Amino acid sequence: MPTDPDPILAHLAAHTSVRRFTTDELPTVDLERAVAAAQKASTSSHVQAYSVLRVTDTAERARLAELCGGQRQVAEAGAFLVISGEVRRHRLAADRQGQPLARNLESFLLTVIDASLFAQNLAVALEALGYGVCFIGGLRTNIEAVDELLELPDDVFPLFGLCAGVPAELPDGHPAKPVPRPRLPVHGVLFEARLPDDATTLAAMDEHDAVMEAHYAARGKAGHTWTGGLVRRNSRPMREQLAGYYRSKGAVLD
Ligand SMILES: Cc1cc2nc3c(=O)[nH]c(=O)nc-3n(C[C@H](O)[C@H](O)[C@H](O)COP(=O)(O)O)c2cc1C
Repeated sequence: MPTDPDPILAHLAAHTSVRRFTTDELPTVDLERAVAAAQKASTSSHVQAYSVLRVTDTAERARLAELCGGQRQVAEAGAFLVISGEVRRHRLAADRQGQPLARNLESFLLTVIDASLFAQNLAVALEALGYGVCFIGGLRTNIEAVDELLELPDDVFPLFGLCAGVPAELPDGHPAKPVPRPRLPVHGVLFEARLPDDATTLAAMDEHDAVMEAHYAARGKAGHTWTGGLVRRNSRPMREQLAGYYRSKGAVLD
């Protein structure tokens, strides 16, 4: 596909997750710049219901890498950030005025949405500064142990990690070499007036499967498809401890 003439769109299109980093630390000044830019993400009613925690201790980084399912980039990247939705500030403001803090599924989702919009802006900002990034959903795999390790306060809901740093130079063909991953065709996700019927939906998925099958085959994984991976991943529930954990931190999920 030709590069978009708009520099911001071209930047977005150039994204690939990075999983191997040099040992260079991410300079705080760059992280602060990126966070300041990311904070301009839209936020529901300006509530800014998120926080980002940089884990600085080497031993804690190593332990987190294990807790995230043995993901070495968590220990090795120039920075490892924990992105949380949070209503702690909201609770403190309410407490100070002797008012209740209403909690329900809506207020929990609001934190998740706010934090996710912030985090994606943060990733794009870090990439604009020349760094590579990788989100880490594996943070939720052993969430109670992560919580205990980082001594997270109540009303803070850790959602995922974000690795950021200088991408390592890897030879072509290296399994961790970042390679652009194709996405569904635009007509598979963008619709007008009404969403399509199942047959039309499946046709776009088949199109994507053909593209992904070639993508995987070129990387030595012949016969793999996007829907095959999707079905495998979705065949059993993951991380079933999460509702109990988030409730224990103050979330109401009803
Ligand atoms: C919320 C979230 C969690 C993710 N968790 C992980 C993870 O734990 N480990 C990992 O290597 N990649 C993780 N990823 C990266 C995705 O695998 C990656 O974005 C996707 O496969 C598309 O590839 P690309 O980012 O290179 O285009 C995560 C992405 C998101 C958005």
